[in-house]
Amino acid sequence: MALEFSPETLKRFEATVARYPKKEAAMLPVLYLAQREFGHLGPEAIAYVARLMGQSPARVHGVVSFYTMYNVKPIGRHHVQVCRTLSCALGGAEKITAIITKKIGIEPGQTTADGRFTLSEVECLASCGTAPMMQVNDDYYENLTEEKVTAILDGLK
Ligand code: FES
Repeated sequence: MALEFSPETLKRFEATVARYPKKEAAMLPVLYLAQREFGHLGPEAIAYVARLMGQSPARVHGVVSFYTMYNVKPIGRHHVQVCRTLSCALGGAEKITAIITKKIGIEPGQTTADGRFTLSEVECLASCGTAPMMQVNDDYYENLTEEKVTAILDGLK
């Protein structure tokens, strides 16, 4: 069966589009809704959003591939995204990534075999004053230390 939004998400889609003067301007929040609904934005999800938005799949794919917050491949239950931009880099982001890699056994860009974690390195998440930091799904974890990172990962089931 082809992908489509649940009735509840379809209502949110309509409310989102109504907030913008042109449908096309709602592309980013609509893609966010699609990612929440489908887990990731593979070719089928992109084709569906393209139909909803009256755009070509190539155009939607262009938007999806430009932003790191959209996932084109399936991701783990916990998407661990370590910021590697300047403030975080100076604060030890590389070490944070190395600690995570050692603890969960995957490199950035990989997902654990049990589907529990995906690890990514991303650019600035606008929390530079609390570097080094990472985002896990919708939550920010800041002023990271080895102890903090270990405790956070242990707490993610
Ligand atoms: S540099 Fe890491 S949040 Fe801005």
